[in-house]
Amino acid sequence: MRDKPLDLTKEQRVIKSPRQIQELAFKLRSQGDSIGLVPTMGALHEGHLSLVRAAREENKAVIVSVFVNPGQFGPHEDFNSYPRNLEQDTQLALRAGADLIFAPAAADIYPDGYQNFVAPGPLAQGLCGAKRPGHFRGVCTVVLKLLQLTAASRAYFGQKDAQQLRVIQQMAKDFDLEAQIKGLPIVREADGLALSSRNIYLNEEERQQSTILFQSLRLAQDLIAAGQRETNTISRQIKQHINQAPLARLDYLEIVDWADLQPLKQLTGQILIALAVYFGATRLIDNIILDA
Ligand code: PAJ
Repeated sequence: MRDKPLDLTKEQRVIKSPRQIQELAFKLRSQGDSIGLVPTMGALHEGHLSLVRAAREENKAVIVSVFVNPGQFGPHEDFNSYPRNLEQDTQLALRAGADLIFAPAAADIYPDGYQNFVAPGPLAQGLCGAKRPGHFRGVCTVVLKLLQLTAASRAYFGQKDAQQLRVIQQMAKDFDLEAQIKGLPIVREADGLALSSRNIYLNEEERQQSTILFQSLRLAQDLIAAGQRETNTISRQIKQHINQAPLARLDYLEIVDWADLQPLKQLTGQILIALAVYFGATRLIDNIILDA
């Protein structure tokens, strides 16, 4: 049997009040229990659940937060249509080993009169940060609040959102946060498409062509394995490959240093190849981290 620190009914495992989760979290920490937090926006899939399982392995208590954070969506993004299904998310999270689901209302996270936001530094400026102004300000602010409310000893993030992971690691370092920030590998469909809550927006044709993201990253990986170190050459090949999917529209492709996320002309060390591709209004991201 797994170690469940809390003897609660299913209803008691879903907590909406920030004060209530914080009280419980502080109580757990004061009795010496570690807490693992998995922050999510819900519509849980195997990518999220891989984080829950990792948290389960390493902590006495596991909290999954489900909060579609208005602060990180742009005015023309999919905040309103983002999939929401707390009942199903609760089932999935509990089955994967969560002890508690924290699902606050926006008005409790950002009450009237709310004023303070995290201003992330240069790591948040390129890649998705350049395409989604204010996005990482929203992400950092909510993650900081979630870490505070859950008194997390460790927090789990997917490499799927590679820039997000780096930005949050840096925030934790700069603000001396207690929580250890953990990054876990991307979980993919059998055909290579990275799992995402947004994949449900794709129609059949788009879904078929969406494999182009991972294929083009694999192509880059092969080129690098064969000795190619010129960013321009790799970039050109990736773009040509993506152009083969008639419904795909490249939003950005960046080849950067994994530590500082700055563009590289010549590849050395740990590199991140990251891209965002639109299929209609649906924006998909994917990436690969390689040793060059
Ligand atoms: P969300 O998109 O729900 O993702 C929650 C976590 O799951 C993130 O750390 C993300 O990287 C991870 N994840 C998503 N798809 C994955 C996949 N295919 N494989 C592995 N991990 C995957 O990211 C957010 O929410 C929000 O920005 C949040 C951090 C919760 C702040 O609001």
